[in-house]
Amino acid sequence: MNVSLQLVESTSIATPVLVVLAVDVAMGDDDSPLPTLLVTADAVSDAAARFLTSGEFKASLCESLLLHAPSGLQAQRLLVIGLGKVRNLGPDAVRKAAGTAVRLAKTRGIRELTVLFPEDHALSDEDSEALPCKVISRAIGERMLLADFDSDTYRSDRKDESMQSLVLAALSSIQKATREEIEIGVHEGNIVAAAQNFARSLVNEPGNILTPTELGKRTAAMCAQAGLACEVHSTEKLKELGMGAFLAVAQGSAEPPALIVMRYEPEYAVRAGSPAGSPVVALVGKGITFDTGGISIKPSEGMHKMKYDMAGAAAMIGAMQAIAALRPAVRVIGIICSAENMPGGKAYKPGDVLTAMSGKTIEVMNTDAEGRLVLADGLHYAKTLGATHLIDAATLTGACVVALGKLNSGLFSNDEDTCERFLRAMRIAGESFWRLPCTDNYQELIQSQIADIQNTGQDRWGGAITAAMFLKEFAGKTSWVHLDIAGQAWIEETRSYIAKGPSGVAVRSVLEWVRLFSVL
Ligand code: BES
Ligand code: ZN
Ligand code: ZN
Repeated sequence: MNVSLQLVESTSIATPVLVVLAVDVAMGDDDSPLPTLLVTADAVSDAAARFLTSGEFKASLCESLLLHAPSGLQAQRLLVIGLGKVRNLGPDAVRKAAGTAVRLAKTRGIRELTVLFPEDHALSDEDSEALPCKVISRAIGERMLLADFDSDTYRSDRKDESMQSLVLAALSSIQKATREEIEIGVHEGNIVAAAQNFARSLVNEPGNILTPTELGKRTAAMCAQAGLACEVHSTEKLKELGMGAFLAVAQGSAEPPALIVMRYEPEYAVRAGSPAGSPVVALVGKGITFDTGGISIKPSEGMHKMKYDMAGAAAMIGAMQAIAALRPAVRVIGIICSAENMPGGKAYKPGDVLTAMSGKTIEVMNTDAEGRLVLADGLHYAKTLGATHLIDAATLTGACVVALGKLNSGLFSNDEDTCERFLRAMRIAGESFWRLPCTDNYQELIQSQIADIQNTGQDRWGGAITAAMFLKEFAGKTSWVHLDIAGQAWIEETRSYIAKGPSGVAVRSVLEWVRLFSVL
């Protein structure tokens, strides 16, 4: 389903729920709240006036007020959602408010909703610049669709309770330029949210259904629809390429591994081939469809969660879907390294020495540090395909969650410019990553007696950095960004604006990072 844009003559729209955003314009912390609607339309203000002045509604972030049969309006209900203090106003507040509106409607069985676009001037005050309409309309559209996602796929009593109609309504009197911006925002929001929800649907699948082979099939189907080239390889090709690290992880499972390669060619490359020196961006995803830990087996408590150990892969697959639709002017390769990490009779063991595709030898200290092994070969393979810039996403370490909690994912890089570009992309996307170091002085963490490197450190300190240092060996001199999304890939508690379950984190930042490479 898509969000549609409707240009309306007046705010008197016939809809089951009309959603209006409100902000608290009180300046000081101690001042009493002054909730103010972000529309100046008299009819709407009149309908809500008594509540707004009653002191019952403070317009704090995601606070809601639902009025039935609002007088003077054709809407069956008026839903006012708070954005919080005006000084904190930004796209993030708008996103959360739009998500809250949808979830509130959904849990009440209301499946059609119209959000009134905040008027041009309404999202600014004297001190701050107005938020661009493109940003606001995308924020609203994107979040309405993300909020509509629920993870109850296999419940027998599941009813399709997804929203049937999501509308963003703007007054037809707005300027043409504004209207065009809103159109772009809604269009982008639809594409990006569909891609992120696709990633979430993959992460949601249990390990018995989404095997590496199945992940390959679903990715190939998406690529066929999106117009991307896609190849899915397995054991034979991995052997041919000499992917000794990736193969070792896969060998304990009865399920064959999948090496999935997606390619996006921009118009300029299709027409005339790539000009020398133009960038080739590679997105590499960890696709462990289930991580038991292997011979270094995990405790049974919480092990079921390891079905989401392919969230990095899903993020890259989702990003590729959006890239195919938004068509940035840069070549992109997507590489997914998918396997099941099992303790079978043929499983790799602690103490084993592996030879990666790059030729580096690796001593296995712990078979549960498998993500870095499959990515080692994925990153090296990307370079052999011509990648000039690498980015990987992986649910890589519990240590990253210990370090950053669940509000930020880990960000590592060997290149300042590329990292800076990622931070810009992250801000556009509205996601949160926090940079951690991976400077060369940490290299001693992965030194081995018997081989070139080992796959874990000697102790548990700085575990997220140890993992990043391992990957850095395989990025080599190529610009590289590493995203450790272990803490954000799965949302444990339902919030007012998003359901618990897979989050689809990193899809948007990776997409925006790629778009910033556009050469045209
Ligand atoms: N898939 C896990 C990391 C993980 C932990 C993801 C929590 C999501 C939530 C990874 O393969 C792993 O097991 N890492 C080990 C590394 C250790 C053996 C050095 C870890 O973090 O404990
Ligand atoms: Zn593991
Ligand atoms: Zn893992």
